[in-house]
Amino acid sequence: MPQYASPRARAVYGFDAPGIMLGLLFGGAAGVWSGCLITVLAPGIASPFWRYTGSVAALVGAVPLFFGLLMVLYAFVGKLRTRDHIIHLCGLCGDETVLDVGTGAGLLLVGAAKRTPRGRVIGIDVWSAKDLSNNSSAATMRNATVEAVADRVDVQTGDARALPFPDASFDRAVSLLCLHNIEPKLDQARACHEIARVLKPGGRVVIGDYVPTHAYAAAFKDAGLTIIQSKPAFGVALSLMWILVAEKAIGLPKPT
Ligand SMILES: C[S@@+](CC[C@H](N)C(=O)[O-])C[C@H]1O[C@@H](n2cnc3c(N)ncnc32)[C@H](O)[C@@H]1O
Repeated sequence: MPQYASPRARAVYGFDAPGIMLGLLFGGAAGVWSGCLITVLAPGIASPFWRYTGSVAALVGAVPLFFGLLMVLYAFVGKLRTRDHIIHLCGLCGDETVLDVGTGAGLLLVGAAKRTPRGRVIGIDVWSAKDLSNNSSAATMRNATVEAVADRVDVQTGDARALPFPDASFDRAVSLLCLHNIEPKLDQARACHEIARVLKPGGRVVIGDYVPTHAYAAAFKDAGLTIIQSKPAFGVALSLMWILVAEKAIGLPKPT
């Protein structure tokens, strides 16, 4: 039975790594606050040693606070800009089958579904609560319903290291802020090999991550893909972000 969202409902794509974000914000703010308190608010009673200590504490606290605020800025603005950039790089015509690896709340899933009215988009995830706030397939499907694309998306539980799909199933594969979570690091290459396996000849993969994507590029190259780009996109995400684009060659029939 179709599910109808309230007309006022909005899609919610969550906070990435919420524990780390809160730690940076509160830890940083505590450092800046206590440092300022010693240095600025009590100059009369503070000795030069404590004024110096206060300045250092404020400066040290400012670093995590800055990165915490960057994460908040990313959640509200950068995330949507990065989604649009990745979907643009996919070069969709409208009838593709797209895989979103580590879909979370469905940011790229919904974005791709809006650009593929005659296609199908599948999101897979292990639903890790530490990687994304309110992370569940129900929340993802709610977003798909709110954005009116629920009829052409599927959400499945699955691990990027062992994708539950036959070879050459997808025209496009996308992934945002997922691969760096995979431990040990060797398994990140395994996930790239899996993505390459399920991609059709002529297919394209677009990956965004906050760490440099060169190691993923090496794994895709090893899997036979051609790397189109692997470079920073800080201006797009307004935060740390690298974007990789790779393509799988169209296999020519063997000469007889
Ligand atoms: C930071 S969230 C990003 C979610 C979404 N791509 C976005 O940009 O909003 C990372 C996601 O990757 C998922 N994830 C982590 N390890 C995974 C794995 N081995 N296989 C599939 N998904 C994984 C997490 O559960 C989480 O939903």
